[in-house]
Amino acid sequence: MTRAPVNRKPENGLRAAHIAAMTTRAARQATRPFPFDVPIAELRRRRSAKWTTFAADVLPLPVAEMDVRLAPPIIDALQAALDASDTGYSGDPSELIAAFAGFAARRWDWRVAASDVRVCTDVAVGVIEILRRVAPPGERVLIMPPVYPRFFAWLHETGLQAVEVPLKELERGGRLDLDGIAAALASGVRVVLLCHPHNPTGRVHTAAELRSLAELAARHGAIVLADEIHGPLAYHGTEFRPYLTLSEEARATGIAFTSASKTWNIPGLKCALLVADSSHHERALKPFPLGQAWHAGHFGMLASAAAFAHGDAWLDDLIAGLESNVSLLRDQLASTIPQIRMADPRASYLAWLDCSALGLAGEPAELFLERGRVALTPGRSFGPPGARHARLNFACSPDILIEAVARMARALR
Ligand SMILES: Cc1ncc(COP(=O)(O)O)c(C=O)c1O
Repeated sequence: MTRAPVNRKPENGLRAAHIAAMTTRAARQATRPFPFDVPIAELRRRRSAKWTTFAADVLPLPVAEMDVRLAPPIIDALQAALDASDTGYSGDPSELIAAFAGFAARRWDWRVAASDVRVCTDVAVGVIEILRRVAPPGERVLIMPPVYPRFFAWLHETGLQAVEVPLKELERGGRLDLDGIAAALASGVRVVLLCHPHNPTGRVHTAAELRSLAELAARHGAIVLADEIHGPLAYHGTEFRPYLTLSEEARATGIAFTSASKTWNIPGLKCALLVADSSHHERALKPFPLGQAWHAGHFGMLASAAAFAHGDAWLDDLIAGLESNVSLLRDQLASTIPQIRMADPRASYLAWLDCSALGLAGEPAELFLERGRVALTPGRSFGPPGARHARLNFACSPDILIEAVARMARALR
């Protein structure tokens, strides 16, 4: 992503454009102000990556942050720490681990043993450290594009080679190509980096597919690193099944990574969790001693413990807001730019937009940015199947979403 110089001119005409765009009754009915009720002027004052990467006249919808206010239990936990000047290193992680185990049991019927959980800085650091343990430089790692661009970056950082087995049937949300995975494992690949739910399509892989993946991995002595950071954001009525819960083979082959950071919008606080059966993965887990939260942020641990223990009600409202935004975005695209086809996300806040019917010569996101002043993530950064696609982060107010589609349409005129 290129960083444009930050231009801090006041917002011009955006409010008027929102109001004009909100004139249809259908649009008004489809919208839910909560949880995305932070005024744009307030968002523009944020110092996080989403709000400082682009010029002030750009509507920024790539970076995976949400335009929400923090959940009250998180505010209380952080406020109590601030009031007590409790800003030292992170301490005993057992409260966080118990909170996560409670969440996993309530939401996914997953009984997580505290001895299977380690705390790390973030999912990126957790995956990279494990990769360093399980795969010497030069080794091949299976990924399934279109996929979260930093998967490529993590492999680059660890000197590993990507073996790409693209998702199949992308026009229907994309499912695992089990034949392709079997062939890659048969050729000697020993590490699979799985994204579940999948970023950017928002697909929640089925239990049957994941069980088959686990069988294949077990048969070939491979390890599955399951990045489940978007798991808590599965929509109501969609069953997210954590990889490790699916079978004995999954338990034996899997190391799962999760975090409160995407779900409760606290990625800057730095805290993630790694779950694995220690009896199978002792060597891999060495950099993460039990009972110590090496390198995690103290505020990240406090906030994550509060989120997992007391954040369900806020999360349920958030998910309802995200589902409402999916309908709104779909309607806006259908009525304004019907050539764009949108995947059907079942989790999280990322819309995968197929722009191929627009017949554009270059990267759609570049055109939307240059001519429409709306920033999306370029499809190509997700690997070759991302060509002629773009990813839009819809964890924003209905006003911003409507304005974003209007700007995309304007860019195409
Ligand atoms: C699939 C996936 N994994 C990991 C991350 C980053 O997680 P962290 O900030 O904990 O490194 C993201 C962020 O968007 C993501 O989408």
